[in-house]
This record gives sequence, C-alpha cells and structure tokens, in this order.
Amino acid sequence: MTVYAIIGGTGLTQLEGLQLRADELLDTPYGAPSAAVQRGEYGGREVLFLARHGQPHRIAPHQVNYRANLWALQQAGAEAILAVNAVGGVHPAMGSGHFCVPHQLIDYSWGREHTFFAGELEHVTHIDFSHPYDADLRQRLIAALATEQCAYSSHGVYGCTQGPRLETVAEIARLERDGCDIVGMTGMPEAALARELGLPYACLALVVNPAAGKSAALISMAEIEAALAAGIDTVKSVLARVLAG
Ligand code: HPA
Repeated sequence: MTVYAIIGGTGLTQLEGLQLRADELLDTPYGAPSAAVQRGEYGGREVLFLARHGQPHRIAPHQVNYRANLWALQQAGAEAILAVNAVGGVHPAMGSGHFCVPHQLIDYSWGREHTFFAGELEHVTHIDFSHPYDADLRQRLIAALATEQCAYSSHGVYGCTQGPRLETVAEIARLERDGCDIVGMTGMPEAALARELGLPYACLALVVNPAAGKSAALISMAEIEAALAAGIDTVKSVLARVLAG
C-alpha cells in the first residue's frame, strides 16, 4: 500500500485525529525540515505528516526549506504527497470556502532553493513537468470532495507568488490574464521538487480570501483565519477519505 505524506499548510499545522506513533526530526543534506515528520495512523492507514510552516506556524512561505521537507518525507518512507494549501481566489468562481484541485501551475516565485540538481553533478537532469500534478492523486482528491457538502473545482491553474506580502490589484489582474484561477505562495518549488524525487504529488487548495481587487474590501488576516477555520474540517475529512480509499 502506498505510504502517503500530507504536507499541511496554513491552518493545518496539526493533523487532529492522527494517531501518532513516532515523531522524527530528520536531518537532510539540505538542512532541517520545517518540523518533525510525524508518523501515525489516519483514516485507518499509515501516514506521514509534516507542517510546512513549522509547528507552531513560524516559517514564512519564501523561507520554507522545501528541499529539506521533501527529502525528509522521502527518507521517512513517503511514496506520494498530498499537499494542502490556503490560497486566494482569482477566478470569480473561486470564492472563500471554495476548494480547488489544480491541474496546472505558473511559478512567479524567485530566489528559492528550487532544485536538487545543483552543485557538482554528473548529469544535469531536466525533469518533465508538463503536468505538474499527479493524475491519479488528483482524481482521488476530486472523488473525496464530491462526497462532501462543499463547492469545489476539479481544475484550476495555481499561480505561485513570492510573498510574504499579498499581491497588488495589477499583479492579480496579470495573473488572471495569464490564466491563473487561484494564487498562493507555497505551491512552488514544492511540486517540482517532488517530481525531481519521483514522488507523485497533488494539491488540495482551500480559498481563504478573494485575491487583491476581487472584492471591494481589503484583505484581512481575520478574514483568512475565519475561512480557514470554516474549511478545515472538510480538509481533514477529504484527506481521511483519500487515505481510506
Ligand atoms: N495571495 C497569495 N497567497 C495567498 C492568498 C492570496 O490572496 N491567500 C492565501 N494565500
């Protein structure tokens, strides 16, 4: 049976209901991961869990050691990755509380350690990244969402910005012209690093605010936190269903 790892984003620093069996703070050639990799049982199945921003939440999106995180999860035995990401809604259909399982992404982030293929290499490897998300894992997430009482989109383009600030109205208008449906700060380089390691990867995105210029109001942390609190139970039950399936 495939060993899944869940990478929890903002609002999911603990996987409540995880029957913890071990907690391993692994060191990697790339430094320390954001937190200990938790190993336990969830949805009746062995699972690994890692809090992307640390436990408690303290690491900004551009400072997450994505390489160490992915490396540590693979060392711990992960064979597939389910990433949870809080995002802003760009497309009008992506209101707060909406879920999206993106099928594509555009990377606007910069200056992050984004590859394992650096330094002295015998061969430079150019991974295929035409389809950044794993088709089978995506279908599992979509099937689980279909059993929930929630609005969701089974496709979407994720735009990854640098953060930690939110975007300007013009930046979001540009992302929209580029075809982005949702915007977040943590989708990359995580997805590409998983591909470099040969780990199937998919993203469960929860919209926690309309992106800049997409509502009359300015974006507040209170609004984001309220949307996270409202959506997190669905996130957990979708994950449990995927694991049980
Ligand atoms: N922009 C970028 N990242 C985000 C947003 C946003 O509006 N909301 C949550 N993560």
